[in-house]
Amino acid sequence: MRSCSAPGKMILFGEHAVVFGKPALAMAVDLRVKASVNVSDQYSVNGHPMRARHHAYISAALDEAWDGPPLSVTTKSSIPSGSGLGSSAAVTVSTIGAILAERGQFDAERVARKAFEVEYLVQRRASPTDTSASTHGSGILVSPDRLDGFLWRIEKGTQEWNIHHCDVRKLTFVVGYTGVHAPTGPLVQKVKEFVESDAEGRKAIDRIGEIVMDGADAVAQADKPRLGALMRENHSLLCELGVGHPSIDKLIESCSEMCYGEKITGAGGGGSIIALTDAPKDVSEAISAVGGRPIIVRVGGSGVLVERQ
Ligand code: PMV
Repeated sequence: MRSCSAPGKMILFGEHAVVFGKPALAMAVDLRVKASVNVSDQYSVNGHPMRARHHAYISAALDEAWDGPPLSVTTKSSIPSGSGLGSSAAVTVSTIGAILAERGQFDAERVARKAFEVEYLVQRRASPTDTSASTHGSGILVSPDRLDGFLWRIEKGTQEWNIHHCDVRKLTFVVGYTGVHAPTGPLVQKVKEFVESDAEGRKAIDRIGEIVMDGADAVAQADKPRLGALMRENHSLLCELGVGHPSIDKLIESCSEMCYGEKITGAGGGGSIIALTDAPKDVSEAISAVGGRPIIVRVGGSGVLVERQ
């Protein structure tokens, strides 16, 4: 049996703009998925016969990385699904990691590449941000240019993304899930239509790109007031792009007095916010009081790991 674990992620800056070739900054969070694979007499997932429809990521991961005898796959997750914390990326990365370890071919870059292919296939995922953040851990800067700290490059069609290591000091955030499930694909499409038809949209995307680069510096220095201000500006720009939602406003209003900054994380339209604060318990209570689901996360931990049996 081979087991691998991989973390969830949090996008700090640059969601949506990354789809237009701008940089983005994402960090691993301290919630993980563990996947184990075992040669067996039939394909199964958590004790049930594997079905491509029900086990889309795992079944696509096997297609992508395995051509041996049937495998039984078991997964254990501490990442709430649908919370914007990258649970599907972590399932994909940990499963691919375990398969490659079983084949004696475990290598982070190979995991990141194959995991992106799987998410692209299942979700038409627009960028490799989630899968590379889960694979590398710490923080990653996704950029059109090759910069210091280069890890690997991922290509799809005419697009390419350079993935870089980003130093992350220990910081605590509160993630607030609105409870409003908002699939990423339609939101990416909505932003695309706006940006292609409106100069204000293109300006917002350009400014987000600048915020990401400033933000990478502020993260490395753990400069919380600067980070907070950049988060608020990035949030306003995301709202201009049309991915705000009343459920997001409600959570932000409940806690902003106790925070350095707060913003949408991920696709928006519902989904989750992140808040940077020195008072995570108080912020969690405020978010709960208005009906949100808070999760306190620490960022910057390990990426994909082969677990000892
Ligand atoms: O769906 P999430 O929370 O992983 O975030 C989507 C981020 C986008 O930039 C909107 C899309 C992408 O694939 O990068």
